[in-house]
Amino acid sequence: MLVAMTGTPGTGKTATCERLAEEGYQVVNLNELAFEANTVVGVDPERDVDIVDVDALCEKVSGLENDLIFLDGHFSHLMDVDISIVLRCNPNELKKRLEAKDWNERKVRENVEAEAVDAITIESLESVEETYEVDTTKRTIDQTVEAVLRIVQGQKEEYRIGQVDWSEVILDWY
Ligand SMILES: Nc1ncnc2c1ncn2[C@@H]1O[C@H](COP(=O)(O)OP(=O)(O)O)[C@@H](O)[C@H]1O
Ligand SMILES: [Mg+2]
Repeated sequence: MLVAMTGTPGTGKTATCERLAEEGYQVVNLNELAFEANTVVGVDPERDVDIVDVDALCEKVSGLENDLIFLDGHFSHLMDVDISIVLRCNPNELKKRLEAKDWNERKVRENVEAEAVDAITIESLESVEETYEVDTTKRTIDQTVEAVLRIVQGQKEEYRIGQVDWSEVILDWY
């Protein structure tokens, strides 16, 4: 089973995947795989992000031998996955998390806005029917891991799309 661990940068994909790896689960960092597999085809100078050949990377991912693999990356939902888990975070909290990473103002804003409008969830739903959301805002990393494992084990009801809604947060901005 391939599980996408996706979400806006700063929502906690890597922190969660590191904990999963500590617990013995197989985790693949998609950014690293993209470089190893030579599927990074350039850099978007305007947004300062790598451009990945998604089809070529998809082929690499599909070739991975596995019973269960978690794919860490903000475009992991574009792979041929069985389940996509979108980590979410209240945009106000996300802003703090990204500032703590020393990201510049523009990149922080771009990502806070993407989170506010459910960008990754919408994109994930376009290709992965089995898309779920876990709100990390009031969870610890261990609790996020617990939620992820519950989804994988089939206890999905609590994590169905539609429960995360940042519209009240956005209204407070104006
Ligand atoms: N419930 C949570 N789940 C995951 N990360 C969390 C949580 N609460 C706080 N964090 C923190 O948020 C940050 C997320 O960063 P990171 O894991 O690098 O995000 P991403 O890989 O999605 O860009 C980390 O510093 C992590 O410790
Ligand atoms: Mg990460």
